Amino acid sequence: MKRAAATIAIAWAFACSLAVGAQQPAGDGPRYAGTALMRPAEYREWIFLSSGLGMNYNAPAPGAPPPARQSFTNVFVNPSSYRSFMQTGKWPDKTVLVLEIRASSGNGSINKDGRFQTTVSGMEVHVKDSRFANGWEFFGFGGGKESAEPMSGQAVAECVSCHAEHGAVDNTFAQFYPTILDAARQKGTLKPGF
Ligand code: HEC
Repeated sequence: MKRAAATIAIAWAFACSLAVGAQQPAGDGPRYAGTALMRPAEYREWIFLSSGLGMNYNAPAPGAPPPARQSFTNVFVNPSSYRSFMQTGKWPDKTVLVLEIRASSGNGSINKDGRFQTTVSGMEVHVKDSRFANGWEFFGFGGGKESAEPMSGQAVAECVSCHAEHGAVDNTFAQFYPTILDAARQKGTLKPGF
């Protein structure tokens, strides 16, 4: 009798943990409130993929401003998806990639040349999740927003087409993330042409 009660208690605790788990999966993947993605607050403790400086998708116009206005783009990914990519060359379901945009400066302290990072000026997030019709969605977290709905319509059309057309692995710019690029090359998951 006692044992039966204990078994029921354990089963109940397990069922409760499953119910909670269904809403917010454990681990470092995406967290949602309804259809909105919660800001991945701890991304600075994630895996750093790389940093672009002043990357521009259009050739600079003649006489364009010097590097003084260039921003850094720092890319981070949740650790479990990074580990999975290093083993398979593919992004697993529930991958979260963060693009943190930071202003740069050349004047400060003992610096005489080159550029260093300063304040955050933007944050965009790219999530792979089977809950999305197209597998991936983009989210904008400008202005310190705590949650964001998937970007839609005109605002996202360009993002989607450039990433799909030019990203070396599964809509992402693996060609600019050195350790990811090596793993994809080893596993043969780069798009033809890379
Ligand atoms: C013309 C091409 C182009 C367009 C348009 C574009 N991106 Fe990207 N995106 C890139 C490149 C190149 C990188 C790699 C940049 C780096 O390392 O700094 C990148 C990286 C990213 C990343 C890091 C993860 C990944 O997928 O590789 C995010 C997040 C991102 N972009 C979001 C966006 C959003 C949101 C938009 C639309 C508002 C957008 N991008 C539009 C070219 C583009």
